[in-house]
Amino acid sequence: MEYHSLLPYNTFGIEAEAADFREFASVEELERLIEGGTFLARPYFCIGGGSNLLFTRKRYDWTFLHSTIKTMEVTYENRNWVEVRVGGGMVWDDFVRHCVDNHWYGAENLSLIPGEVGAAAVQNIGAYGAEVCDLIDSVETMDVMGRKRIYKAVECAYAYRDSIFKRPNMKSVFILYVNFRLNKHPFFRLDYGNVRQALSQYDEVTLAHVRQVIVDIRRSKLPDPARLGNAGSFFKNPVILRSQYKELCTSFPDMPCYEVDADHVKVPAGWLIEQAGWKGKALVRAAVHDRQALVLVNRGGAEGADIVALARAVQKTVVDRFGIEIEPEVNFI
Ligand code: EPU
Repeated sequence: MEYHSLLPYNTFGIEAEAADFREFASVEELERLIEGGTFLARPYFCIGGGSNLLFTRKRYDWTFLHSTIKTMEVTYENRNWVEVRVGGGMVWDDFVRHCVDNHWYGAENLSLIPGEVGAAAVQNIGAYGAEVCDLIDSVETMDVMGRKRIYKAVECAYAYRDSIFKRPNMKSVFILYVNFRLNKHPFFRLDYGNVRQALSQYDEVTLAHVRQVIVDIRRSKLPDPARLGNAGSFFKNPVILRSQYKELCTSFPDMPCYEVDADHVKVPAGWLIEQAGWKGKALVRAAVHDRQALVLVNRGGAEGADIVALARAVQKTVVDRFGIEIEPEVNFI
């Protein structure tokens, strides 16, 4: 049997093979795949830009499915906002650039996040005080039986890097389009990290300037997957009890945190990993990035197992040192 290389479909740059690989550029093409029995032959898996997954096997006797629906249309607009229907296969940052060029506010803090629109809605991508769920009005889907369903944002159960689409029973649901609502009036979120300070180099705060500042910050910290394989933040920032945080502060007074609610705070996993001594350290062909400890990188020729071994070692050191479990954000398949 001829296998298909999955190398172009994962930003970790890991070699893996699939028994079958199909793309659909329209709803009709997906319907034809369903009618042709494509999903009866073997297990299937829907893949986006591959920027948030880790192949843990070398060979998958599965059908991989990838949307190349890249259309974008304005479906409604008034003086205050615009609604845009975007194909799940559109590159996320192309959409952000389009929003910025059209003076639509809301997506700019999510500039340069790798991946595609459909995966963004699954993963609830977030950065610099913004999350994509704040912009989503609804998600249009088709399941493996060809049934269409539109999920309103409230039905998507959005939470920190989580949604209903990550549940195992949603594997048979494919995202066709995401409907976004963007603001036409200026509204900026600049209070995360050093965004406001970085903006002071410009005379005025505009969408284009905010985008440029975010792009520059990301480029300075996060490795370019074209040069060094990675999947962005490898771990989620753990949410812990405020009481545990206070106790830890007696031993680690510099431990940063973000407010969550009255009882919980979020601790930056990158800080925990750096303090645990892993920043810039390697284990065989995998390493902890030297400018952002939350990112694991492929030093060249790594297999999924190398990344998993490093992740486990990092998790163990963090739990031993701080008593905090850190969980992967990246999806292992
Ligand atoms: N920190 C360290 N050492 C490190 C990295 C971070 O000490 O090596 C500490 C610093 O105190 C820093 C704090 O962690 O102030 C937070 O770091 P940063 O602002 O870089 O953000 P993060 O919590 O590490 C999260 C997201 C990123 C997103 C940034 C900016 C998660 C899992 N990650 O990272 O998302 O770009 O905030 O908003 O929530 C991604 O999901 O792939 C991703 C890159």
